[in-house]
Amino acid sequence: MAKRIALVAAIAFIPLASTQSSYANSSLSWQSLPGSLYTPPTTPWAYAPDASWPPTTIGTPLEPQAPDDELLQMLSEIDPNRIKHIVSTLANFGTRHTLSTQNSSTSGIGAARDWILKEMTAQASPDMTVELNSYIQGVAERISFPVNISNIVASIPGTDDPNRVYVVTGHYDSRRLDVMDYTNPSPGADDDATGVAVVMEMARVVALHGKPKASMIFAATAGEEQASYGATHLAKTLKKEGRNVEGNWNNDIVGTGRNEPFAAINDYTVRLFGASIFYPNASTSEEQTEAGLIGAWNDSPAQNLGRYIAEIAAGAAEAVGMQVALIYRPDRFLRGGDHLSFLEEGWPAVRFTEAVEDFRHQHQDPRVQNGTQYGDLIQYVDFDYTARVARTNLASMWSAASAPAMPRNVSISEAIGFPAADRDTPLEVLSNESQFCWNTGEDPLAAGYELVYRASGNLQWTHVVSVGDVGSVTVDLPKDDVQFGVRAVGKDGKKSPAVLPAVAGSC
Ligand SMILES: *[C@@H]1O[C@H](CO)[C@@H](O)[C@H](O)[C@H]1NC(C)=O
Ligand SMILES: *[C@@H]1O[C@H](CO)[C@@H](O)[C@H](O)[C@H]1NC(C)=O
Ligand SMILES: *[C@@H]1O[C@H](CO)[C@@H](O)[C@H](O)[C@H]1NC(C)=O
Ligand SMILES: *[C@@H]1O[C@H](CO)[C@@H](O)[C@H](O)[C@H]1NC(C)=O
Ligand SMILES: *[C@@H]1O[C@H](CO)[C@@H](O)[C@H](O)[C@H]1NC(C)=O
Ligand SMILES: *[C@@H]1O[C@H](CO)[C@@H](O)[C@H](O)[C@H]1NC(C)=O
Ligand SMILES: *[C@@H]1O[C@H](CO)[C@@H](O)[C@H](O)[C@H]1NC(C)=O
Ligand SMILES: [Zn+2]
Repeated sequence: MAKRIALVAAIAFIPLASTQSSYANSSLSWQSLPGSLYTPPTTPWAYAPDASWPPTTIGTPLEPQAPDDELLQMLSEIDPNRIKHIVSTLANFGTRHTLSTQNSSTSGIGAARDWILKEMTAQASPDMTVELNSYIQGVAERISFPVNISNIVASIPGTDDPNRVYVVTGHYDSRRLDVMDYTNPSPGADDDATGVAVVMEMARVVALHGKPKASMIFAATAGEEQASYGATHLAKTLKKEGRNVEGNWNNDIVGTGRNEPFAAINDYTVRLFGASIFYPNASTSEEQTEAGLIGAWNDSPAQNLGRYIAEIAAGAAEAVGMQVALIYRPDRFLRGGDHLSFLEEGWPAVRFTEAVEDFRHQHQDPRVQNGTQYGDLIQYVDFDYTARVARTNLASMWSAASAPAMPRNVSISEAIGFPAADRDTPLEVLSNESQFCWNTGEDPLAAGYELVYRASGNLQWTHVVSVGDVGSVTVDLPKDDVQFGVRAVGKDGKKSPAVLPAVAGSC
């Protein structure tokens, strides 16, 4: 056992990415502003009410990855005035219903499509392509006649790993109370011109700077309100192309922290929904059965992507200005969105939505009734809030696209740390140790690996064991009590999201 502990202690030191993390800052400039319900993290930085069990002498408390100077510069360039320009232009097309006219330049979804395409093309860098990803949808659920569904897709290829791709989405179609009413006004300012503004503003800033190591896609989708037709077409297009989609960041209704008088003002929190491993069709039935057996229901790829996004936001808290509230659900109660189309292809996908939705201004026909203003109108959007959501997305998506891929073939061994099989079972096997292995040498960007862990009830990883550039590690931590993940680390310290180890006979 001592030999194994020595192996862990002798590992290479992997430096953190440049500047100091601001997660532990008790004086973030935004946390005491009116409208901030910010809760200072407890030990060590995430909510860890039971961090004293199991004993935590293995590894170190996890410090969120800090942003480097290039990322800080990009975050500072996210511009609330650009977001205002995008949201107000989109809200002024009358309706952007999926079935609305496509042959006007001033109203209807066709006008919105053409404007987004023109604007994204104008802001693109020479490395970036901007194109329509379209098809004709026949009569179907909420589609009463054949219609051209067009996504606007900007892509920047990765310099090192172009087949690996991260996709940010927001939908540009809108709706009224009657989801089939495609002629009357439907400004859709919050739902979801704000999500489109996040997508477009991220693309603009990345175009000014970036050559990410893996590819990034910025997509404004259509048909979401009818049944995520555009996102499904985009996900299937990427599947057909054989792309390795390591994440979908979906932004839908990200325009305000306010819903007075129904809720307290919450300007500095954004919700992030991540489905468990049991979401239908998101993982194989074998994976679901195994997760059920070992208690890994909150260790899905989507939830590990959510943990990653929350960690990056915490590490860049001063620059991002937003607290990410992880929610272990596919979406809001009995509701859905474009990320589900990516989940159903087996890819990690999460949804950002404002802290508290205001249902007076969602899907509503604009009107004053009994003295109350209804409608998804521009005056209820807070462009600074949406800018903070854009920074949260950009920080995490850029960091992932600058890091190695997620490790592959990660497993946890059944051969160590179990009761004896017979009288000849070696004593060293009878420990309560846990052994992990994964593939190495496949990703030139991976300079090392980390084992992360948390008590089973915690939302977020609390501890990290740096193991260096090796393909396995054995630690004196009981797999009965602890949730584990393995992640890759690049030369500059940038980390991938973590991967749940699958059960293997041996390492
Ligand atoms: C902590 O917050 C203060 C106030 O916003 C800021 O000046 C300082 O740079 C921050 N420190 C770190 C380490 O981020
Ligand atoms: C415009 O599009 C509608 C369908 O949205 C079609 O019925 C109409 O004929 C078109 N008008 C022209 C001038 O092309
Ligand atoms: C959908 O409409 C756009 C804009 O007119 C056009 O470029 C595209 O080819 C159409 N897609 C299909 C499948 O017809
Ligand atoms: C899962 O897949 C089955 C078979 O393709 C399909 O019938 C079902 O509707 C899917 N469920 C969801 C939630 O997508
Ligand atoms: C409007 O006021 C009338 C009369 O007080 C009431 O019956 C009705 O429920 C109100 N409608 C709404 C949507 O508040
Ligand atoms: C089991 O794990 C605990 C927690 O790491 C450790 O304190 C203990 O020494 C281990 N016991 C054995 C027999 O390895
Ligand atoms: C996965 O890892 C195991 C060792 O744990 C190895 O035997 C196997 O070949 C690996 N599979 C792939 C597809 O790389
Ligand atoms: Zn929406």
